[in-house]
Amino acid sequence: MPTTFDFSQALLDWYDLYGRKDLPWQQEPTPYHVWLSEIMLQQTQVSTVIDYYQRFLGRFPDIQALAKAPQDEVLAYWSGLGYYARARNLHKTARIIVEDYDGDMPASLEALTGLPGIGRSTAGAILTLAFHQCYPILDGNVKRVLARFFAIEGWPGIKQVENQLWLRAESLLPKQRIANYIQAQMDLGATLCTRTKPDCPHCPLQTQCQAYILGQPEAYPGKKPRKAIPVRHTQWLIMQNELGEVLLEQRPSQGIWGGLWSFPEISPDEDISSYCGRYRQIEIQSSTALASLQHVFTHFRLNIQPTLLRCRVSGVADKDQSKWYRIEDTFKLGLPAPVKSFLKSFNE
Ligand code: ADE
Ligand code: SF4
Repeated sequence: MPTTFDFSQALLDWYDLYGRKDLPWQQEPTPYHVWLSEIMLQQTQVSTVIDYYQRFLGRFPDIQALAKAPQDEVLAYWSGLGYYARARNLHKTARIIVEDYDGDMPASLEALTGLPGIGRSTAGAILTLAFHQCYPILDGNVKRVLARFFAIEGWPGIKQVENQLWLRAESLLPKQRIANYIQAQMDLGATLCTRTKPDCPHCPLQTQCQAYILGQPEAYPGKKPRKAIPVRHTQWLIMQNELGEVLLEQRPSQGIWGGLWSFPEISPDEDISSYCGRYRQIEIQSSTALASLQHVFTHFRLNIQPTLLRCRVSGVADKDQSKWYRIEDTFKLGLPAPVKSFLKSFNE
C-alpha cells in the first residue's frame, strides 16, 4: 500500500479502463493534428468538432497546405464553428511555421506560446500529446478537476487563483505516460467531473478529493463574481397626523410596486418642506430623520431614507390615491415588503 495518494497513477489506471481512445485526432497525434483539434475544441464540443476536423484535414492535410491556402477558404471551412479569430490565427501561425520553422511545428514552450492563438495550455497539449514532453495543461476541464481535488477557492479568471492551479498541475505530472495522463485529465473532467452533478462515486480521485470530502464538489471552481448592482436612493415621507394615522399612497399600476400602498416618495435631493407645502394642506410640526433602509431588487438596490413628519392637517379630505390610515389597518392593504416591515417595527 502506498502511503501517499498517487494522483497520476490513479488517473492513468482509470484512463486505461474508461478514457477516450477513439477520437479522430488521437489516431495519429501529429503536432498538426493535435494543434488543429485543440483549437477547434477550445469553444466547441467534441461531437460538433469531429465533422469539421475531418473536412478541414481533407482540404488542408498538412501545415504547408494550410499556409498556402487563401484566408477566405480557411474561413469557409471554419464556417459554423464560430469564434473566427481562431481560424485567422491558425492560418497566420501556419504561415509563420512555414517561414520561420521550416514547416515543422516548434517543440518548445517559448516558441509555441509566441505563435498567434497558442496560449500556455494549448502549447502544453501539443508538447505532451504530440511530443511527449512533460508539461501541464489547464483547460476548463482540468481547472475544474484540480479546483475540486484541492478545494481551491476563488474564480480561476483571477490571476492568483489561476497561478495556484498551474502550480498544482505542475506538481502532479507523472514521469511516464505523459500523453495518456494529460488525456486522462481532460477525459475525467469531460465525463465524470462535470460542471454539474459530477459522478463522484465512480471517480478514481474520490478518496482524496477535498471538494468531495467537504460534501460540495459543485462549489468549485468559484464562479465569476457578479457585477455589483447599482444603488438607487429615495426618501419616504412618513406623515403622521394628530390621531396617529399615517398617510399612504397607492402607487401607479406600472412600475415597481405597481398598485401597492406605500409612503409618499420624493427624490433624495428634493426638499421635504417645499414638497409638503406644494402638494398638501399640511403643517409640519416636527421632522425626524429615521434610520435608512435597504431593499434589494434583481437589478438594483434601493436605499430608502425615511423621515417622520408629525403634522397638523387642515381639514383636507383624502385624495383618491392617498389616504390616512390607522397603522393597524394598513396591514390589510397590499404593501411592499419593506413598507410592511417598516410599519411593523414603527408600530412597536
Ligand atoms: N478537449 C480539449 N482537448 C481534448 C482532447 N484532446 N480530447 C477530448 N476533448 C478535448
Ligand atoms: Fe470531481 Fe467528484 Fe472526482 Fe472530486 S471526487 S474529482 S469532485 S468527480
